[in-house]
Amino acid sequence: MRIMLLGAPGAGKGTQAQFIMEKYGVPQISTGDMLRAAVKAGTPLGLEAKKVMDAGQLVSDELIIGLVKERVAQDDCAKGFLLDGFPRTIPQADAMAASGIEIDHVIEIDVPDEEIVKRMSGRRVHPGSGRVYHIVYNPPKVEGKDDVTGEDLAIRPDDEESTVRKRLGIYHEQTKPLVEYYGKVAAQGKLTYNKFDGTQSVGDVSAAIVKTIG
Ligand code: AP5
Ligand code: ZN
Repeated sequence: MRIMLLGAPGAGKGTQAQFIMEKYGVPQISTGDMLRAAVKAGTPLGLEAKKVMDAGQLVSDELIIGLVKERVAQDDCAKGFLLDGFPRTIPQADAMAASGIEIDHVIEIDVPDEEIVKRMSGRRVHPGSGRVYHIVYNPPKVEGKDDVTGEDLAIRPDDEESTVRKRLGIYHEQTKPLVEYYGKVAAQGKLTYNKFDGTQSVGDVSAAIVKTIG
């Protein structure tokens, strides 16, 4: 099963990805997590990406496309995968189609901007795995600690309110056109497109996804 998550920053893509990976046994391909790992490792790619990410802007299409193509070609993706945060521009979607990377289900998670700004201040992440929590809506078992490793949770550098607002602006400008793009592909019968109300609880969004894609 090849699934793609589409939604604004903070809509809950990473949160639902954790659930979908376990439920359907497919690996998560999060371009954001891959870039953050490169930043942490201090690779040339990471050094280049850090400035762009901290400013809330998008990394170049070329760089991201190369990264995803390489990842999808790995053995564990043969049975399917879950794209989280890619594609997020029309050129990325075109490049993916041109490379023969197909998708079965597009899952759009819809949350109003103001709700997202409120949510982001409570987000905590486990840097090692990308696991996501919220201090109120999805708290870890032990405050400030990852459920699996017990390691410290962190605040993402791009979660400051002014950066979140910038990221939302870029989402509406560059990523939202993918709704129409994939709507058209769905109309040709090549994939299913479903939109979910991301203001529901984490569990209710997960349940709605399972009910729809089986
Ligand atoms: P990326 O890491 O992909 O960030 P994003 O798309 O901005 O999305 P987020 O990870 O912020 O949000 P999410 O939807 O995963 O929400 P989450 O589940 O964490 O990308 C980061 C940066 O990398 C980009 O800005 C860009 O610079 C670069 N980049 C990445 N991909 C790129 C690409 N393809 N092209 C170019 N550049 C790229 O949830 C958010 C919070 O809400 C959490 O605290 C969570 O617990 C809580 N929450 C989740 N669901 C609910 C719910 N139902 N109710 C209440 N709270 C909830
Ligand atoms: Zn995410």
